[in-house]
Amino acid sequence: MNTKVISFTNNKGGSGKTTTCSNVAYCLKERGSKVLVIDGDMQMNLSLSFLSEESVMEHDSSKDNIYYLLSGERKVSDIIVPSFAEGLSVLPSSIRLSEVEELLYGKGGKKDILSGCLRSLIKSGEYDYILIDVPPTLGLWVKNILHITDHVIIPVEASPWGLFGLANVISYINQEKKSNKGLDILGIVLTKVNTRKNYYKDTKEYLATVDEIRVFDNIIRTDSTIEWAQDNSRPVTAYRKSARSAGEYEALTDEILKYM
Ligand SMILES: Nc1ncnc2c1ncn2[C@@H]1O[C@H](COP(=O)(O)OP(=O)(O)OP(=O)(O)O)[C@@H](O)[C@H]1O
Ligand SMILES: [Mg+2]
Repeated sequence: MNTKVISFTNNKGGSGKTTTCSNVAYCLKERGSKVLVIDGDMQMNLSLSFLSEESVMEHDSSKDNIYYLLSGERKVSDIIVPSFAEGLSVLPSSIRLSEVEELLYGKGGKKDILSGCLRSLIKSGEYDYILIDVPPTLGLWVKNILHITDHVIIPVEASPWGLFGLANVISYINQEKKSNKGLDILGIVLTKVNTRKNYYKDTKEYLATVDEIRVFDNIIRTDSTIEWAQDNSRPVTAYRKSARSAGEYEALTDEILKYM
């Protein structure tokens, strides 16, 4: 099987990108796939979902992280770290990613800088899936991520402002299809849902009118166990399998696999 690259994108902050990325990654690993997660965000939350705070800070200061992969000071094989779960590895982020746009423009401002760094890894087929957690921005760094992406998943928070800017994100991703013909928006997943609130119903109704984009049937409802899990450097699917949100992420993963 060729390595499939899935990115979790939405420039709306706090929409559930990192939580969804970490849990789908863990569910794929549980199904027997070899998975690499790449933390593309300077907030380092994806790294913290799989590694201890000490380990994350150590990779930050030792330059064994994505920033120095992009700068050319590290090779990808040198900076991938095993997580607590066998079969799931992490390419950690760095606070230095706050300067990623300057770095990329300094290297010619091209969209294929990340793909150049990952080409041989993807070609080797060592991983079944590479999942990338994208920061809540749109710029050259996000274009670099979309350039190597096969499938985009857009987590949308079912909140009053959750839909604001969504059309812009979709058209931004669609623009990138010009330089990456294989790029596909797999679907929108509704997160942090409270089914009793009107704005959940409003969000669902609005999304039903957006013909060209799939909205996953499986939703992720609000669940405080997610925060407990994150406090323990674990996705909820690894921390407490019996949690409602863990079951919802399992079902979402089944649905994702159906469409890939
Ligand atoms: N289903 C849920 N129930 C309760 N809390 C949730 C749920 N999903 C995410 N959260 C919480 O909401 C916050 C934002 O989630 P997350 O970090 O996944 O969003 P994000 O889109 O990655 O944010 P950012 O744009 O800052 O990267 C986190 O504190 C997380 O613990
Ligand atoms: Mg995030």
